[in-house]
Amino acid sequence: MDGDVPAKNAAPRSDAEAENGKRAVALEDLPGVGPTTADKLREAGYTDLMELAVASPGDVAEAAEIGTQVALHIIQEARRQADVGSFELGTQLLERRKKLGRITSNSKALDELLGGGIETQAITEFAGEFGSGKTQLAHQIAVDVQSPVAQGGLAGEVVYIDTESTFRPERIVDMAQGIGVDPQETLSRIHVARAFNSNHQMLLVGKAQELARARPVRLIIVDSLTAHFRAEYTGRAELAPRQQLLNKHLHELLRFADAYNAAVVMTNQVSSRPDVLFGDPTRPIGGNIVAHAATYRVYLRKSKPPRRIARLIDSPNLPEGEAVFSVTGEGIRD
Ligand SMILES: Nc1ncnc2c1ncn2[C@@H]1O[C@H](COP(=O)(O)OP(=O)(O)OP(=O)(O)O)[C@@H](O)[C@H]1O
Ligand SMILES: [Mg+2]
Repeated sequence: MDGDVPAKNAAPRSDAEAENGKRAVALEDLPGVGPTTADKLREAGYTDLMELAVASPGDVAEAAEIGTQVALHIIQEARRQADVGSFELGTQLLERRKKLGRITSNSKALDELLGGGIETQAITEFAGEFGSGKTQLAHQIAVDVQSPVAQGGLAGEVVYIDTESTFRPERIVDMAQGIGVDPQETLSRIHVARAFNSNHQMLLVGKAQELARARPVRLIIVDSLTAHFRAEYTGRAELAPRQQLLNKHLHELLRFADAYNAAVVMTNQVSSRPDVLFGDPTRPIGGNIVAHAATYRVYLRKSKPPRRIARLIDSPNLPEGEAVFSVTGEGIRD
């Protein structure tokens, strides 16, 4: 994200971004963008050149109430200035990957399965049936990310997007006590937002960006990614628009992960496949769009209580494998 430049009047960005040494170019510096247009763009969530550079002319025209041609011109200029589409050298990529952080899940086995914990600059998906431990894991990771790096955290804060009203502060208290940290302080670093519908859910990623400019947010949790989308877009004819929106949502999450060197953890339900006679008759919701967007896809299933089995599927650089962990009163354990 070399070209991801903050607007002149944006609040100070996180250390992670400052480290990347970004030049400050305001939207107003683009030819054809006056203060009014710039304000409208910012209101619509186009806060920096990169966001404009990757936008569609139609969306920008609508947001700024300008013609499509003008919008196209602005986007092209943003692309030029933000240097979008340029190549990154392997050495630069390696440098960027060296900054990767990892968050412990509080289970050694699960951490090992994930190559050392939940990775930043990536999306980790936990998919599984009801009661498989997705929400419990999300709570645990929200506690663990706050620990110092030496203890498996990133000394960071959390944005928790709760779509099913299953966030429980009491569980955070249990889990904080479980690892011997102050429950009140732990709760005060978790920014919870209840998403009322899919549209609101998408909007909250923008809000998370605003927050991350002022606070050291290193983790964004979406529990669950697909529930609203699934409930709102039911018919066959609605599948394509649903997938398009999900795609947009996932890309915004990934951009967040890149910009703030943060981890994205999302949960997903599974649906049954009546056509499968042998093996596992369920699969995660969201089809290819979600499958491709998730950097790490972990499939959870219940075993003898309190045990759960996690299986890593589809990882770019790790072998497939399984790990066993437990959901206890104090949180996730081996
Ligand atoms: N306080 C607790 N002590 C011990 N186990 C608990 C506690 N709270 C929850 N659990 C365990 O976690 C399970 C619920 O897991 P969780 O809510 O993470 O499921 P989920 O995968 O998010 O399901 P859903 O798809 O319904 O959202 C319970 O069935 C129970 O086994
Ligand atoms: Mg849940």
